Amino acid sequence: MMKTSCIHFHFLLVLLFCCAFSSSILMTNAVYAGVYACRPDQILALELFQSEFDSHTCNGSTYDDSYSCDNTTGSMVELELSSGCLKGILKPNSSLFELRHLRSLHISNNNFKSSSLPSGFSNLNRLEVLTLSSNGFVGQLSFSFSNLSQLSHLDLSSNELTGSFPLIKNLSRLSYLDLSSNHFSGTLNPSLFELHRLFYLDLSKNNLVSSSVPYEFDNLNRLEFLSLSNNGFQGQIPSFSNLSQLSSLYLQDNEFTGIEEPISKLINLRELDLSFQNISYPIDLNLFSSLKYLMTLILSGNSISPASLSSDSGISLDLIILGLSGCDIRQFPNFFKNLDGLQQVDISNNKIKGKIPEWFWNLPNLDIVNLANNSFTGFEGSAEVLVNSTVTLLDLDLNNFEGPLPNPPHSLSHFSAWNNAFTGSIPLAICNRSFLTILDLSYNNFTGSIPRCLLNFQSSLTVLNLRKNSLEGSLPDMCNNGALLQTIDVGYNQLTGKLPKSLLSCSSLRFLNVENNKIKDAFPFWLKALPNLQILILSSNKFDGPISPPPGQGSFAFRGLHVLEISYNNFTGSLPSNYFDNWQTSSFKKDQDGRIYMGDYNHTSYHYGYNLDLRYKGLHMEQESVLTFYATIDFSGNKLEGQIPESIGLLKALIALNLSNNAFTGHIPLSLANVTELESLDLSNNQLSGTIPKGLERLSFLAYISVAHNQLKGEIPQGTQITGQPKSSFEGNEGLCGLPLEQSCFGSNAPPMQQPEEEKEEDEEEVLNWKAVAIGYGTGLLLGLSIAQVIASYKPEWLTKIMCQRNRRTR
Ligand SMILES: *[C@@H]1O[C@H](CO)[C@@H](O)[C@H](O)[C@H]1NC(C)=O
Ligand SMILES: *[C@@H]1O[C@H](CO)[C@@H](O)[C@H](O)[C@H]1NC(C)=O
Ligand SMILES: *[C@@H]1O[C@H](CO)[C@@H](O)[C@H](O)[C@H]1NC(C)=O
Ligand SMILES: *[C@@H]1O[C@H](CO)[C@@H](O)[C@H](O)[C@H]1NC(C)=O
Ligand SMILES: *[C@@H]1O[C@H](CO)[C@@H](O)[C@H](O)[C@H]1NC(C)=O
Ligand SMILES: *[C@@H]1O[C@H](CO)[C@@H](O)[C@H](O)[C@H]1NC(C)=O
Ligand SMILES: *[C@@H]1O[C@H](CO)[C@@H](O)[C@H](O)[C@H]1NC(C)=O
Ligand SMILES: *[C@@H]1O[C@H](CO)[C@@H](O)[C@H](O)[C@H]1NC(C)=O
Ligand SMILES: *[C@@H]1O[C@H](CO)[C@@H](O)[C@H](O)[C@H]1NC(C)=O
Ligand SMILES: *[C@@H]1O[C@H](CO)[C@@H](O)[C@H](O)[C@H]1NC(C)=O
Ligand SMILES: *[C@@H]1O[C@H](CO)[C@@H](O)[C@H](O)[C@H]1NC(C)=O
Ligand SMILES: *[C@@H]1O[C@H](CO)[C@@H](O)[C@H](O)[C@H]1NC(C)=O
Repeated sequence: MMKTSCIHFHFLLVLLFCCAFSSSILMTNAVYAGVYACRPDQILALELFQSEFDSHTCNGSTYDDSYSCDNTTGSMVELELSSGCLKGILKPNSSLFELRHLRSLHISNNNFKSSSLPSGFSNLNRLEVLTLSSNGFVGQLSFSFSNLSQLSHLDLSSNELTGSFPLIKNLSRLSYLDLSSNHFSGTLNPSLFELHRLFYLDLSKNNLVSSSVPYEFDNLNRLEFLSLSNNGFQGQIPSFSNLSQLSSLYLQDNEFTGIEEPISKLINLRELDLSFQNISYPIDLNLFSSLKYLMTLILSGNSISPASLSSDSGISLDLIILGLSGCDIRQFPNFFKNLDGLQQVDISNNKIKGKIPEWFWNLPNLDIVNLANNSFTGFEGSAEVLVNSTVTLLDLDLNNFEGPLPNPPHSLSHFSAWNNAFTGSIPLAICNRSFLTILDLSYNNFTGSIPRCLLNFQSSLTVLNLRKNSLEGSLPDMCNNGALLQTIDVGYNQLTGKLPKSLLSCSSLRFLNVENNKIKDAFPFWLKALPNLQILILSSNKFDGPISPPPGQGSFAFRGLHVLEISYNNFTGSLPSNYFDNWQTSSFKKDQDGRIYMGDYNHTSYHYGYNLDLRYKGLHMEQESVLTFYATIDFSGNKLEGQIPESIGLLKALIALNLSNNAFTGHIPLSLANVTELESLDLSNNQLSGTIPKGLERLSFLAYISVAHNQLKGEIPQGTQITGQPKSSFEGNEGLCGLPLEQSCFGSNAPPMQQPEEEKEEDEEEVLNWKAVAIGYGTGLLLGLSIAQVIASYKPEWLTKIMCQRNRRTR
């Protein structure tokens, strides 16, 4: 069995709009330079405060523009240090708390290294505005904010604060309160309901619980924004009958069991998210029909009454955004006919069968359409049915579409249709869709050749994924017109010919995968010239010849390459000892949400990302966002000979090395012990001799090793990572002894040793080892642990983030 790798791509449809509200408020607190003279003691206190932190992370000028003083007293009244450059503990006696006249203090986005929130803030009792978000503060609040009686704006969001709901008594002026994304637990403190001036209240993403929403919310009748999402609220969704100013209401991800009818009194409501509740009955959309300003309605993850989705439901809502993902819908919602204003619609993850009606594409404002993971089979109307639609993002993934693909809309920019059964050739009309940025037709049954025009004249194309179709012919010339292309995956087709030299014009190319085709060519050393190439996969083709450059023609040195897979070709020759010199892997760019994206697609609503999954002997490692710095090499199944280069030890970031099924000779390089990140090492089926280097037992992440079928001898190094391997990893070497093999190295009268695990436990053992590895990596490592999950990895990777809620994955 061999290691294979699988790369799959996915859209991330992210409907984002609630965040705009808060940022616009913060912007009003612009801070100007210290135009007026500040008293020396105030400047001194600021400088002392500054010196409490590690200033290396800061650029010199950061402090200058960040404060202002009262023009008569010289006291500092405003301080803005949200630059992210303060790093260190914020001490209880910090000089910050000497600045007692501060009225406005912004110190968000710093790194206070898990300090607790110092009580010194309660001395700053003239504060009107205090923002402390995203600072890494931990633990319980040790003080009350009650001293800050002037406070009107308090933002503690995105820290790690714990304990019960903070005491905010006496803050009669408070109009803005953001406690979101912490770990506050327990019930709401009644003092909250005395804050009569609140117009913005965000308590989302905490562990607040209540068997019902307290009726006292009705006291807060100035509220315009209310979010209780991602908590543990239960009972009925209240009618909030006094909150006539409310325009945004987010209650998603709670455990509400029903909706109180008079929710229709919220006449100013514009945005409503009730997704993912535990409502046991189907929601009737008529409930919302009196909300005449409602623009956004998200009901995903609840069941919806089928009658209210039909065309004669009579519902007229002026919606712009509608989320009905995972609502157990079985028929196309014909009431969309009445929604002329609809721009973004998500009906993914339902059970809708049959064809998409023709009228749908005539909705005049349609922009983003997500139909993924249903059972659609086709389109009503002609092959031209889509062309005049205004849709720019269309997702058809994971349906049963069959037959030829209709010509795509003129305005299309992002198109994904993977995992369907489309047949016929890729429509040529796609070539003159000049906004097309992402095209994913993978896992279909397209035949014919890749349209020459597509890669040559499409100037905006950034991602092309045609994996697993039945495409023939050679890879066309590309990037003649602009060079934005970053990702090309044409793996698992029937492509022939050579790699086109025009690839060199694709200066943005990061990812090239042509695996499992019939390409016959020499190793493309010339791709070295691509400055951004990170992943190159040529496996299972008919490449041949040497993979080391002829003498005098420079070093191998693909500078930025992380992943090089050339297995199962016909490569020959040996590798010089300096083969891996100068291979400097740089780190992947990680997005704010921790994922790796192959492109910088700054559309406000979506990302197109990729996962790189590595599979070794039934182990499956999901490389999602985990390692920003790693490398893998797979040269297996070729005819490489000679020694394994010592320079392999220079690749510190290597996590997997597969040189199996070649004709390597000589010793296992000692330098492998220096590749400290190594998790998988396969040297089996070569002609290696000598002993297994002792140093390998130090490789603490090593989860899989095989040196089977070589000519190795001597004692197997007795580290736990190695002796825990199955016997089969060492078999076929006449001279090896020691655990896990049964041959003892000390002759037959040696003391009995611990018996090795039985063969049948093999799979489970590997899995356990991988768990150990996962712990070694700390948080964030996602591991798929079984063969079943390898198969599952071909399932949807849809990620829908709606209204700033946490990522929710549906597989
Ligand atoms: C400091 O300045 C450099 C270049 O001007 C910039 O790349 C870097 O991000 C800045 N660092 C901070 C912490 O602002
Ligand atoms: C001082 O500031 C106030 C507003 O903060 C302004 O009205 C006043 O004109 C200023 N005085 C001087 C002398 O600049
Ligand atoms: C704060 O207290 C620590 C001891 O707890 C002391 O070393 C430090 O000098 C004090 N800093 C200031 C600014 O007073
Ligand atoms: C409130 O502020 C005063 C000084 O203004 C201080 O003495 C007192 O300790 C503060 N109270 C609390 C609860 O922090
Ligand atoms: C509330 O504020 C007033 C002054 O505005 C003060 O006298 C009183 O002590 C405060 N109460 C608490 C509990 O801090
Ligand atoms: C509703 O708001 C009014 C003021 O607009 C207030 O007098 C009344 O007490 C509130 N009702 C409830 C139940 O809080
Ligand atoms: C969801 O509702 C069912 C009854 O409809 C109940 O048994 C279950 O405990 C509820 N789950 C949660 C998480 O509230
Ligand atoms: C699309 O629009 C063009 C121009 O408005 C029109 O000629 C054509 O018939 C339309 N096609 C379809 C299928 O509606
Ligand atoms: C797609 O093509 C493959 C091989 O050509 C075939 O086995 C499979 O049945 C086809 N699938 C459909 C849905 O036509
Ligand atoms: C590898 O090359 C040899 C001759 O160089 C040829 O006989 C053999 O068929 C090739 N194998 C593959 C899989 O292309
Ligand atoms: C995306 O936005 C970031 C900052 O908002 C910017 O630095 C970057 O250049 C943008 N990328 C593109 C491709 O527009
Ligand atoms: C391992 O690396 C160290 C320096 O990082 C080097 O001194 C040593 O020679 C290397 N060992 C081997 C066996 O290459």
